[in-house]
This record gives sequence, structure tokens and C-alpha cells, in this order.
Amino acid sequence: MADTARHPFLQGLSKHRGAPPTVVVIFGASGDLTARKLIPAVYNLAHDNLLPADFFLVGFGRKAIPDEEFRGLAADAIKEFSRRELKTDVWDRLAPHTSYVAGGYDEPAAFTRLAAHLDAIEKQLGRAVQPLFYISTPPTVFAPIIRNLGASGLASRYLGQPHQAKVIIEKPFGRDLDSARALNATIQSVFAEPQVFRIDHYLGKETVQDLLVQRFANSIFEPLWNRNFISSVQITVAEEVGVGTRGGYYEQSGCLRDMIQNHTMQLVALTAMEPPVSLEAEAIRDEKVKLLRAIQPLNLGPSGDVARAQYGAGMVAGKQVPGYLAEEGINPESATETYAALRLSINNWRWQGVPFYLRSGKRLARRVSEIAVTFRRPPGTLFAEGDKFDLSANTLAFQIQPDEGMHLVVNTKIPGLETRTQPVKMSFRYRTTFGSNTAEAYERLVLDAMIGDGTLFIRGDETEASWKLCSPVLEVWEAAGREGMQSYAAGSWGPTGADALLARDQRAWRQP
Ligand code: BG6
Repeated sequence: MADTARHPFLQGLSKHRGAPPTVVVIFGASGDLTARKLIPAVYNLAHDNLLPADFFLVGFGRKAIPDEEFRGLAADAIKEFSRRELKTDVWDRLAPHTSYVAGGYDEPAAFTRLAAHLDAIEKQLGRAVQPLFYISTPPTVFAPIIRNLGASGLASRYLGQPHQAKVIIEKPFGRDLDSARALNATIQSVFAEPQVFRIDHYLGKETVQDLLVQRFANSIFEPLWNRNFISSVQITVAEEVGVGTRGGYYEQSGCLRDMIQNHTMQLVALTAMEPPVSLEAEAIRDEKVKLLRAIQPLNLGPSGDVARAQYGAGMVAGKQVPGYLAEEGINPESATETYAALRLSINNWRWQGVPFYLRSGKRLARRVSEIAVTFRRPPGTLFAEGDKFDLSANTLAFQIQPDEGMHLVVNTKIPGLETRTQPVKMSFRYRTTFGSNTAEAYERLVLDAMIGDGTLFIRGDETEASWKLCSPVLEVWEAAGREGMQSYAAGSWGPTGADALLARDQRAWRQP
């Protein structure tokens, strides 16, 4: 069944769900993301008949790999990482259209070869094929790839037409405001904005897209969605995993860059933005940018709006795990944070005075991402909290993952001859309503880029607005080194500094 049939929101996002004949060229073809996410995404789109009839996949990388071997690697990746098993009839359609081009990212001749390869595909097919370049390499080679796509003429193929060349850029998009601006300038010197798809895979998650449906397709929430009824919002993006084998990358990144600046800020934007005038990409992105710009600069003083920490040794899922500093590839003196918490103030008509608390970290107690919106309490004239009345502020929690769904905490009378109360949870679960084998984020995003729908991608000004908030934090942390870095036991809910951030407002983190 096509995803559109399962989820009405998909219908609204684009006028049609058919992509023109397309060749997806993956730069960084032998990388981890390609094997784990991109090739399985392409396979599942093929499985669901969502790829255009004339679809081609080209791997591009430094290593010389014969076509046949690349197909073998792709099949292995599907077997290991796809949500569905490799089916011969699906793979037999895809494999003959899968090939590989070897070359250096800063080698102009390699891009001439790539152009010739695309020409040959078109010649064989006898019609134009939309090129979609997927840059999934380490960020150091983003700029040379983009420049070479420009110089070779690949970037301007079919410019101005619906099947014009398009480029998907993986994260990290810059490492601070200046580098993000520089990267945007490089991109914009080669591509027009409608050709550019900056990825944030959180936007491809069903539950993240559902935020807009919940907010704007239901009339009960919108009248309450403001400072008059909401007292605070908590956004948690918690992971159980540690840095694993990605120590080299993570040391250069840290939680703020890896999770907050992008994924978590996108959740803030979608939760708090004004209703867009339409579901068109630009209308939604305009509102997100406006919201991000309304967030006040953070107080970076000692009892300010931010907390950071590293995990120490501890127990996760019943297993003893080492602390961050003892992980493979980590400097034992590292000042890279694996946890960050922020208190945001949004200075606009809707949200003034409503704190947004954000936290994310690795090696936390449980993998869970949620957005919890807590409403103001009613006047306590009838039911006041005490022995008889166990009351909770109404909270609407969007569970992004796992066990995707939504819960509303309401106070209820406990059955009995006297009036006693208890908060209960009204729940909606995707799994029970829609089944569990839903599309992965990358499937949706690769399809949308092929179609040319940028709604679920980040616009250049959006990424800069988010960096503008985060960059000063990084500067202060980098200057401080390890001073002020807290520690938390692996398997816990984070450092005491993050609790203090809320305690100052007489609040505490929710147990998601
Ligand atoms: C990536 C980060 O962007 O998101 C990883 O680089 C993180 O460090 C991952 O583990 C989390 O994604 P998800 O979809 O598992 O929540």
C-alpha cells in the first residue's frame, strides 16, 4: 500500500507523488549511512513501487569498485539493514540499474566521467533523466563536491525545468554559524535554492510530520496553543546508545551540534510556529524561520540557560558500559559534551513567558524522544492538590519514538463513594492503529527530493537561524574547556545541572 493511503498528511504535502525518471548519485557510496539508510531506503521505495519506472542508482567514491561488486555490497546492505527482507523480484529490477563511478571528490576529471556516465544512461533510455546528487560524505569534502558539480555543468542540468538537477546535503551542516554561512554561500554559488535539499532525518519521521496534522487539522488544540493555557514545554531526545565506533566524528561534534542544533530545534519550530498560510514548502519554512528568530539569545552565565555533561561508566539495559572518556577514539581529556540541556524563551505574542526546556544525550536511561506540552492548572478552588486529590497538570505528550503515539494526561475521579482523583493517560498508539512496519524517514525524504518537494528539508536561512542561537553556546563551552563539564552515570536521566535548570523555575523534568 502506498504511504499516501495510510496517512492523509502525505496527500496534502505535494500535488502528486510521482517522480520523473531519476538517477540518484550517492557521493560517499561506501560509507556507513549509505549502507544503513540510503540503499535500504531506495530498496523499500522500489518494493512499494514508489520509484519512477526509469530509476538508476550510481555510487560514487574514491575507492575503485567494479559495478558487480557495488551491487553485491548494496544487496548485503539491504539484507542487513532494510526493514524488509531482500526479495529477488524487487532486487532484480533494481540491480541492472545500479552502477558505480570511482573518483576523487576534488578531481574535476572524475566529474567529467560522471557526466559521461549520466549521458550514457540517458542515451540508452532515450530520454532525459533527472539527476539527484546525494552528498553523504564527511563534511570536509562537501564544498569540493559542490564546486565540481558546478564546474562540470552537472548542477545546471535541466535548470528551470521540473526535472532539474537536485542536491541532498547530509548533516552536519556547518559546525557553527560562520561555517554554515560559508557552506550556504558555496551552495548558492552553484545551485538555486529550489534545487537544494538540506536533510534532517527527524523531519522524515511520521510522528514529526504528524505534529502539523495534530496542531492544524484538529480544532481542539489551536485555541489552547499559547501562553494563556500552556505553562511550559519539554522536549526530550534521549538515546541509550553511546558513541560506539563513531568516536572520531563525535569528538568533533558533541551533543549540541549532533542533536540540538538540528533535530531538536526542528521539533521546537514545528511545535511552536504559527499556522502557515498553506502546506506549501515555503509557507511552512517561512513560519519555522520566524519562530527560530524569535528565540531569545541564551543566558550563558553560571546559573543560565544551558547545561552540559559527559556520561560516566554505568549500567545500560542491564549491561555495564564504560564512560565517554574511556570509549574508543576519545581523548581522555575530552571536553566534548554527550548531553546538553537548554532553556529557551520565545519572545513572540504566542509564547512569551512559556519556557521551552530541551534535553538530549547519549547513554541515558532509555531511548525516547517526546514533546510534552504542559497546560496551566485550573484555579484550585474546587479540587486542590492534597491527600484526597492526586492531581496533575494536563500534559499532552507526543511520543516521537519509539512506541510512536500521543498521550494526554487528564485528572479523573477514582470510582468509589467519595470523591478522590487520579491522573490517567489517554493514549493513541501508531502501532495498534496503523501497524508497525511504517516507512523509515529516509524513504520519505529521498522520495520527496526526487519529486522536488522541499517541505521536509531545511532552508538555508533556517539553518542559519538555528546556528545563531547555538554558536555562542559552543564558543563559551570551547573557551571553558572541561571547566563546568558535569558528569552523569550511563543509564541515568542526566546530570544534576540539568535538573537545576528546571528547579530554578520550580519545575522538574518529566519521566518520559
Ligand atoms: C544522528 C546523530 O543525526 O541522529 C546520531 O548523528 C544519533 O548521533 C541519531 O544517534 C539519532 O537518530 P534516531 O533516528 O535514531 O533518533
